[in-house]
Amino acid sequence: MSESQPYYSTKISPRQIVRFSLFCPARFSVESIILFSLAFSRNGTFLAAEIFSAMAHSQRDAAYDRENFIRIAADVKLGKDVGIFCHVNLYGCEIGDDTKIGPFVEIQRGATIGRKCKIQSHSFICDAVTIEDECFIGHGVTFINDRYPAAVHPDGSPIKGGEWECVPTYIRKRAAIGSNCVILCGVTIGEGSLIGAGSVVTKDVPAGVVLAGNPARVLRRVDEPPKKKKNFSPQKSRSSRRKSKKRSS
Ligand SMILES: CC(C)(COP(=O)(O)OP(=O)(O)OC[C@H]1O[C@@H](n2cnc3c(N)ncnc32)[C@H](O)[C@@H]1OP(=O)(O)O)[C@@H](O)C(=O)NCCC(=O)NCCS
Repeated sequence: MSESQPYYSTKISPRQIVRFSLFCPARFSVESIILFSLAFSRNGTFLAAEIFSAMAHSQRDAAYDRENFIRIAADVKLGKDVGIFCHVNLYGCEIGDDTKIGPFVEIQRGATIGRKCKIQSHSFICDAVTIEDECFIGHGVTFINDRYPAAVHPDGSPIKGGEWECVPTYIRKRAAIGSNCVILCGVTIGEGSLIGAGSVVTKDVPAGVVLAGNPARVLRRVDEPPKKKKNFSPQKSRSSRRKSKKRSS
């Protein structure tokens, strides 16, 4: 888990408006001045944020914060209070209100993320993935949309967009996906389910279960208590070291 302040938020601060005014193209300058005064005339800056967001959507250019390596294409639909960290690439996707997106995340065209989600660093969310509200996506989670990937046709000609089958995946409300999971395409992860770190999900997951492994298997229901942990105690490891010493002598 990582918790820090996002570099970009649709709850825009006066400082961010100054930054946007600097990197926005010249034709934005009049609007920037209006925004600037709005930001300072109101304590909360929602109005300014809304106008900025409307302006951004009305333009064809991507918002590109070079200082923090954040690229948000003009066709991205951002909700309110979306927090975005540095080194992020978003295009053609939809992000709901209050969702936070960590660094080194790419969200492709056609992906939809609901409200109040947490997308941790290094995750890749591709076309045709739908993540409903309040979901947790751990670090380095990879989604897949092409079950039989190939770069070229049998005759060696390149496979272009539309010449392969893009298979949708659905992550239902409040599901949580542990770090470094791979979610194969065509699956639905049920509401409130929890996927263990490093798992490979190959089939539909029912609601409210804990799954782990490769291929992922159900461990228990979310509302069942976890098993008592049998951790290795230092005492035990010392005695087993003594035993192995005896055996070797
Ligand atoms: C899946 C998870 C929730 C299970 O927790 P739990 O209910 O306390 O389960 P336990 O630790 O008692 O493990 C139960 C069994 O599953 C196995 N197991 C647990 N997590 C596993 C995982 N991620 N992959 C494979 N097997 C796993 C254990 O080895 C154990 O096997 P055993 O019965 O043969 O000894 C937890 O291990 C996990 O992976 N959480 C995700 C953490 C994460 O990625 N956070 C992201 C942000 S930091």
